[in-house]
Amino acid sequence: MLRTTLAAGAIALATAGLALASGSDKPADPTDPISLRQHLMANLGKATGIGGRMLKGEIDYNPQAARAVLLTMSSVALGIGRMFPEGSTSPDSEARDTIWTDRAGFRAAVAKFIADTEAAAAQPMGSIDEFRAQFGAVTANCKACHEAYRIKKN
Ligand code: HEC
Repeated sequence: MLRTTLAAGAIALATAGLALASGSDKPADPTDPISLRQHLMANLGKATGIGGRMLKGEIDYNPQAARAVLLTMSSVALGIGRMFPEGSTSPDSEARDTIWTDRAGFRAAVAKFIADTEAAAAQPMGSIDEFRAQFGAVTANCKACHEAYRIKKN
């Protein structure tokens, strides 16, 4: 059932011409946590973009695609916690030092993002209004975490 939903979602996304991919021009380096987290975040940006375009009516609402957007966010949420090891900074990184000085707060933000995305992805998505409510709940996490733990450099 889940597999069917995912496949249908993937097809819906592909036919919308909006395959999920990294926004970065560099390929992901699996040995570098900064590269990995930036690619995951870029995928969050793409998923959010697809959801936002459905909500604005720029692409047709599709419940499978809506669920795929939330499942993408949920799987990213599960992965990012381990991608901020101590000392993983670089001039390219937008990670703020509060990630390491307020470790408990950052962990709590990741835990909330995991919980909210899992809960949202499990809700009924038949109507666009149902999706709108879930999308609003999960994207509040982006803003809150970025304000506390990210420095936007460009
Ligand atoms: C728990 C904290 C947290 C949450 C939740 C979070 N982000 Fe981020 N995000 C970050 C941090 C930290 C960075 C900077 C990473 C770096 O450059 O090392 C970042 C960077 C980004 C980037 C830039 C990626 C790049 O190419 O360098 C995008 C886009 C992004 N986030 C989108 C999102 C979206 C959309 C959501 C919500 C659906 C989200 N993020 C949720 C912490 C978070």
